[in-house]
Amino acid sequence: ALISMRQLLDHAAEQGYGIPAFNVNNLEQMRAIMEAAAKTDSPVIVQASAGARKYAGSNFLRHMILAAIEEFPQIPVCMHQDHGTSPAVCQRSIAMGFSSVMMDGSLGTDGKTPTSYEYNVDVTRRTVEMAHACGVSVEGELGCLGSLETGMAGEEDGIGAEGILSHDQMLTDPEEAADFVRKTGVDALAIAIGTSHGAYKFTRPPTGDTLAIQRIKEIHARIPDTHLVMHGSSSVPQDWLAIINEYGGEIPETYGVPVEEIVQGIKYGVRKVNIDTDLRLASTGAIRRFLAHNTAEFDPRKYLKETINAMRDICIDRYEAFGSAGNA
Ligand code: G3H
Ligand code: 13P
Ligand code: NA
Ligand code: ZN
Repeated sequence: ALISMRQLLDHAAEQGYGIPAFNVNNLEQMRAIMEAAAKTDSPVIVQASAGARKYAGSNFLRHMILAAIEEFPQIPVCMHQDHGTSPAVCQRSIAMGFSSVMMDGSLGTDGKTPTSYEYNVDVTRRTVEMAHACGVSVEGELGCLGSLETGMAGEEDGIGAEGILSHDQMLTDPEEAADFVRKTGVDALAIAIGTSHGAYKFTRPPTGDTLAIQRIKEIHARIPDTHLVMHGSSSVPQDWLAIINEYGGEIPETYGVPVEEIVQGIKYGVRKVNIDTDLRLASTGAIRRFLAHNTAEFDPRKYLKETINAMRDICIDRYEAFGSAGNA
């Protein structure tokens, strides 16, 4: 059944678990996410980015999600729009039937330029008014995503601030978060706590302090009824990097957010955990490996099937680790 993000995350908060929110761009991802959810009995958040809408088209994405709901009637599914850059973008998604939207007013309509606090409050508040009138949930964002190690926002072509960020910019302020929630009425808030989008988050192996855990606690204490969201939560699996590079890829050494640290974040109030990059890496590794071993093969279903299996295993791992398994 289609369900709002508010309903899903309220349950997650009551029971103390987190839900991975996977980006969806194609049929293979959609199947992987749903098969994993069915296997682990987990609720689902699927999200469509601007890039996904450009690649697959909004109608294809919408109908793919509706098809998933029809085929897996026992699984609650939230159809979420990722990183809306204006109230107008969110309005179009609401009109299409999305049950949840993100208004990312922390960046301008170019998805790159940090905005003023007042601008963020204004566009987010307007989106909440519109969305709540339609029973749709809203996620806002406060702060600039950026790796505390590199000071970079990541994602050359996607959503992310340009240039080097200061330590302060990369940590959401708890008092400002409280004021933001009071003024906008958002259901969920994406916070900056040391993560960044994409595969290049950290240049060194993690030592257990990737996330600003203390900051998560402080923010959660100030806004206990607002569900915290962590973007840039891919773990960048080293086994998939090795497979990609073994079969002709050239991805430099890089690290993501360890699953154990995400689990810590969930313990202190994080409820929605955004993951895109991990499924991209698994997909690419699976295709490279399959085609290297099956050089005469040309039926796309053969190698795309490998991507479904690879992505499904990652989804299963995350549903289990974050505790959403068993909660559908
Ligand atoms: O927000 C970032 C997500 O990974 C989506 O990226 O716009 O390239 O689909 P994308
Ligand atoms: P990753 O790039 O770490 O997968 O993050 C995805 C994300 O935050 C989508 O909004
Ligand atoms: Na931001
Ligand atoms: Zn994001």
